[in-house]
Amino acid sequence: MTVSAESAGARARQSLADRTPKSRDVHKKSADVLPIEVVPTFEMPTPIYIRSSEGATMTDVDGNTYIDLTMGFGPHVLGHRPKVVEDALHDQLTRGWHFGLHNERQEELAHLIADAAPMAERTIFCNSGTEATMYGMRAARGFTGKNRVAVFDGCYHGAHDYALVKADPESPRSEPGAKIMGTGVPRTIRDDTMMVLPYADAAAFDLIRANKDELALVMVQPVQNTVPRDDVGPWLKELETVCREAQVLLLLDEVVTGFRLGFGGGMEYFGVSGDLATFGKALAGGLPIGALSGRAEVMDLLGKPWGDPKGVFMGGTFSGNPLTMAGGIATLGHMKEHQVTLFPALNSEGDRLANAVNSFCEERQMGATLLNAGSIFYMHFKRGGIASSRDLADENHEAEHEFYVHLLDKGVIVPGIHLFFTSTAHKPEHIDRVATAFQDALMAVREDGLI
Ligand SMILES: Cc1ncc(COP(=O)(O)O)c(C=O)c1O
Repeated sequence: MTVSAESAGARARQSLADRTPKSRDVHKKSADVLPIEVVPTFEMPTPIYIRSSEGATMTDVDGNTYIDLTMGFGPHVLGHRPKVVEDALHDQLTRGWHFGLHNERQEELAHLIADAAPMAERTIFCNSGTEATMYGMRAARGFTGKNRVAVFDGCYHGAHDYALVKADPESPRSEPGAKIMGTGVPRTIRDDTMMVLPYADAAAFDLIRANKDELALVMVQPVQNTVPRDDVGPWLKELETVCREAQVLLLLDEVVTGFRLGFGGGMEYFGVSGDLATFGKALAGGLPIGALSGRAEVMDLLGKPWGDPKGVFMGGTFSGNPLTMAGGIATLGHMKEHQVTLFPALNSEGDRLANAVNSFCEERQMGATLLNAGSIFYMHFKRGGIASSRDLADENHEAEHEFYVHLLDKGVIVPGIHLFFTSTAHKPEHIDRVATAFQDALMAVREDGLI
C-alpha cells in the first residue's frame, strides 16, 4: 500500500502496512474461499491475523503484539489462556472428548450456574448464545401456549431468524415497528411472531400490558452491546414486575453480562431476576458454549422425550461437550472463589478507563464519549446525550473510522464491531496504557481536523 505521508491518518496507515505484510498475504488467500471471516469485521483498519494470545495481549502472524480489547467478543473475562482453564482442558484432553452419551461434568457446571443465579433451577447446554436464545423463545411458547415474543430496540440476541427482527428506525421511538435484518428471514416471523419494545423506556410497560394475551416472552439484555449503561436497574426491576403481573415470561439474556458484571451477572448487579436466562461467552472460559436456565416448570418441558406432545424440542450433537464443561467448571469455580475481589476490581478498572477518556474529551471539547457498564465498552463519536441506540444517528463516523486506525497503530486492538471488553488480565498498567493510547489516537484525529 502506498500512501502519502501528509496526514496523521496516512502516516498511521503506512506504519500499519509496513508492519503487517504477512497478515495481508493471509487476507488475500482467504478472500478466495471465505466470503466472511469470524463475522463481518467491518471497519477493521487493516487485516490482522492472530497467531497467539496470552493474558491481556495477542500477537499477530507478523510478530506484532497488541493489548487486546476484543477479548473474543467477550468470553475471555479471565484473559487469554488463563492457567486454571488451560490445566482443566489438559486434564480433560487426556480422557477424550466424547459426545452423544452423558458425562458427569454437566451436572457440576449446572450447579455452579445455580450458585451464581438462584433462578437457574434447571439448565440445558448448547454451543452458542444464538442457540440458547432460540431455545428460550421456543420454551416460552411451549410453556405459555402463546405465540409472540418481544425484544427491545437496540438489543442483540444472536443470528437465528427470530433474533433478526429489529426496530424500524423510521418508526416512533416509544412504539417501534419491526424490521428484518438482511434478506433470507421469512416475513411471517416479523409479522406474526415478534414485536419490538423501546429499551429503558416506561412506554414498554403499556405495550406489554396491551399485548399480554399474545405475548409468551419478553427478552431483554440487562446491558446493551452498543449502548452499555449501568443505570438501568430501576427500569429492569419494573419490567420484571410488569411481566409477572401480565403473566408474560421474562428472559434475561446474560450472554454478555453473565459472569462479567458479577458472578451473578446482570441479575446480581441490578437486583433483578427472570423466569429464564441465557448464558454463553464467559461461561466456559473461552470455549464455545450456550446455556438456557430457568424455572423448573418451564425448563422441564425441554426434558420430555422427543414426540411427547407437551415437550419442547432440543437437540445438538455437541451439546454438553466435556471439554467445554471442563473449561466452564474451572472458570466458574475460580470466579466463585474470588468473586468478592475479582468483579469489583474488573468493574472499577472499567470505570477508571471510561473516566480517563471522557474527562480528556470534556477538557478538550471533543465529540466523543466512552460508554461503559463495568468492563463492557462502546465508544461513540458524539458528545453526551446517548440514552439509546436511536440517539446514534448523528455520530461522526469519519472520526470513528480514523480513531481506530490510530488506536491499532498505537498497539491496542478493538474488533471491527467496536464493542470491546477488558478482563482480569488487564492490570492497572494495561489500563493506563490503553487510556494513553485512546488519548493519543484522539489527538491524532484532531490533528487531521476531524474531531
Ligand atoms: C446478548 C447476546 N445474546 C446472544 C448472542 C449470541 O451469541 P453467539 O455469538 O455465541 O451465538 C450475543 C452475541 O454477541 C449477545 O451479545
